[in-house]
Amino acid sequence: MEPVHVAIIYYSATGTVHTLAQAAAEGAEKAGATVRLRKVAETAPPEAVSARPEWERHLRDTAEVAEAGHDDLEWADAVLFGTPTRYGNPASQLRAFIDTTGPLWFQGKLADKVYSAFTASNTAHGGQESTLLALGNTFYHWGGIIVPPGYTDPVQFRSGNPYGTSHVAGDGPPGEVALEAARHQARRVADTAASLKAGRAA
Ligand SMILES: Cc1cc2nc3c(=O)[nH]c(=O)nc-3n(C[C@H](O)[C@H](O)[C@H](O)COP(=O)(O)O)c2cc1C
Repeated sequence: MEPVHVAIIYYSATGTVHTLAQAAAEGAEKAGATVRLRKVAETAPPEAVSARPEWERHLRDTAEVAEAGHDDLEWADAVLFGTPTRYGNPASQLRAFIDTTGPLWFQGKLADKVYSAFTASNTAHGGQESTLLALGNTFYHWGGIIVPPGYTDPVQFRSGNPYGTSHVAGDGPPGEVALEAARHQARRVADTAASLKAGRAA
């Protein structure tokens, strides 16, 4: 059978979510998936970006990462979305991409895929769960199959977020626990999507 297709579609201003996305890509690949790692387009005005050197630097450093398109969603059996929290919600850059998907949704092309999400915030209770749950609203509308990490691996008892991998960026870059949680989440998503794909092909 053709390998399962996993798209990891993310937004990151200063690199935290990008690092989690890379770990998720590793996890999905380890599970045997073919992976597309895709950033969404930056929509903030250049003057906002240049006002924060770390934002400008990350944008430059990830210039080579391909931008997400509708073809990535159509191609994918499973999609992991990554976003920093913005006042307890997904970043507008990721929402802007999601809000272009009406034609796919209308044709039923977003239904029956596996979806999952990961995030970062600056503070420990800064809205990680609400951000992940807000993305979940969209997955319901798409008729998606939501696969959260739950507490399905020992690392989840250390990372502590059953809704999706999350990291407190104010504590520094993601460490091994957050990275392993991202890998585990993506493995679980890839395994579930592979089982569904095999079952549908049978
Ligand atoms: C407009 C804005 C709103 C934010 N809102 C929150 C928030 O509500 N809670 C919080 O802990 N961090 C908040 N942050 C911090 C970001 O979530 C944090 O910088 C981000 O997770 C880092 O991820 P990145 O490096 O991938 O961009 C906010 C940042 C911005 C720019």
